[in-house]
Amino acid sequence: MIDIHTHILPNLDDGPDSVEESFSIINMAYLHGTKGMIFTPHFLVGSFINNRDIVKSQYNQFVIKAKDLFPDMEFFYGSETMISPHMLNHLRNKEICTLNDTSYILLELPFINYRTWIDDVIDSIIKMGFNVIIAHPERCEALYKNIEIVERIAGESVYFQINAGSFLGIYGKTVKSFADFLLEKGRVSFIASDAHSTRTRNAVMQPAYEYVSRLKGEAFAKKIFVENPGKMLGDEKINI
Ligand SMILES: [Fe+2]
Repeated sequence: MIDIHTHILPNLDDGPDSVEESFSIINMAYLHGTKGMIFTPHFLVGSFINNRDIVKSQYNQFVIKAKDLFPDMEFFYGSETMISPHMLNHLRNKEICTLNDTSYILLELPFINYRTWIDDVIDSIIKMGFNVIIAHPERCEALYKNIEIVERIAGESVYFQINAGSFLGIYGKTVKSFADFLLEKGRVSFIASDAHSTRTRNAVMQPAYEYVSRLKGEAFAKKIFVENPGKMLGDEKINI
């Protein structure tokens, strides 16, 4: 499996604050079948300005040791960018890390209110030539209260990534049932850990893989956990 959404690089955001904890998170995932990981620290104007230079420099230092400890794992860098009207300039100036420097950007929406400018910002990002992966839509109250927003923003260059833990109920029943609903509707292109620690929000995706295999068949689970991330890393187009 390839995990496209993690907060594992130490001291950059609300993930681990020691290298040792980072390695413990990776080790748990490794022991449960994850063989590739993208580090996606938050890019959040006003809180975490993890621009490309910062992420790349932290990644370069970290990955030397990580490859020593986990020689058959692959590591990549990216970011999880909170949508805002200001981010367009940062994106234009190449300050925001896309996933593995591809045309795919991992985009976070506000959890509570869906502002009217959000559709326009998504449109602008796509017009700039990017593909948008919406991080954990199942956690956004505005979306599960207004499913028509999902249908409106879904399109050829917009994909949805569900958190593995959502299927297991770690964010509560409502989030779990919305994750199940999106899976049933065929709206899920990626499932990732969104790991922050070795505790509840860890990087183990195996139980979610088994859950999706049971519901939709193993071929589908492979597509979501392995093939789509692989294509994305190669900047290939993904069929939703
Ligand atoms: Fe995240």
